[in-house]
Amino acid sequence: MCLSERQDKPFIITIDGPAGAGKSTLAKKLAAHVGAIYLDTGSMYRAATLKIVEERVDIHDEQAVHQALCSTEIQFVKYDEILMDNRNVESLIRSRAIDKTVSLISSYSDVRKKMVGLQRDFARTHKTVVEGRDVGSVVFPKADVKFFLTADLNERAARRQKELKEKGVEAVYEDIRKEIRERDRLDESREHSPLKVPDGAFVVDTTHLGIEDVLKALTGKTIEVLNL
Ligand code: DC
Repeated sequence: MCLSERQDKPFIITIDGPAGAGKSTLAKKLAAHVGAIYLDTGSMYRAATLKIVEERVDIHDEQAVHQALCSTEIQFVKYDEILMDNRNVESLIRSRAIDKTVSLISSYSDVRKKMVGLQRDFARTHKTVVEGRDVGSVVFPKADVKFFLTADLNERAARRQKELKEKGVEAVYEDIRKEIRERDRLDESREHSPLKVPDGAFVVDTTHLGIEDVLKALTGKTIEVLNL
């Protein structure tokens, strides 16, 4: 019997952590394994940032950013399908230009309020594995299972470089490392919902672990806690 058939009630599993810790890959695999839907909250902040960049809004003008996003519809449909004003922008939101701007845009409280509302609506009726920076601490503090994935900065930069290379983008390792370090700094020090280990989260350092080892650990813990 599939795990999903044994547990029909909605549940929420959160995975938080810094860029490059392996969250997306693992959240997708864990969701498939336990019959849940995967929600990538980072893609929602990225789609909002794309709107600001495309509309050439001053990124430092918080009020102007808020105004531009008031009339913008963001909808996470599924992995690989994030709609911004009904346009699938998945292929546009993973660029380095968005990487560099997204932490600032996502530090604004009105932007966060809008995204958090959408995320809670999404998870209300689904079995969900949700990935982000504040999903176990702020968005779903009562989640059924919480994980926090982390890894060395050097390892995370190497993973990001490999990911870009696979997309045909050549980037200098030192530049990527610097960008990730800056993103960590902004995400951890912002006033609203900073990146931190949520209360009750299981922390996994993925620096020296392969994907399958981490997946095994997350799946084991999930089955144990949810009694699947
Ligand atoms: O996971 P990611 O790299 O796609 O996330 C992009 C940015 O979005 C990240 O640097 C901070 C922001 N973010 C956030 O503030 N809160 C979340 N729940 C998810 C992402």
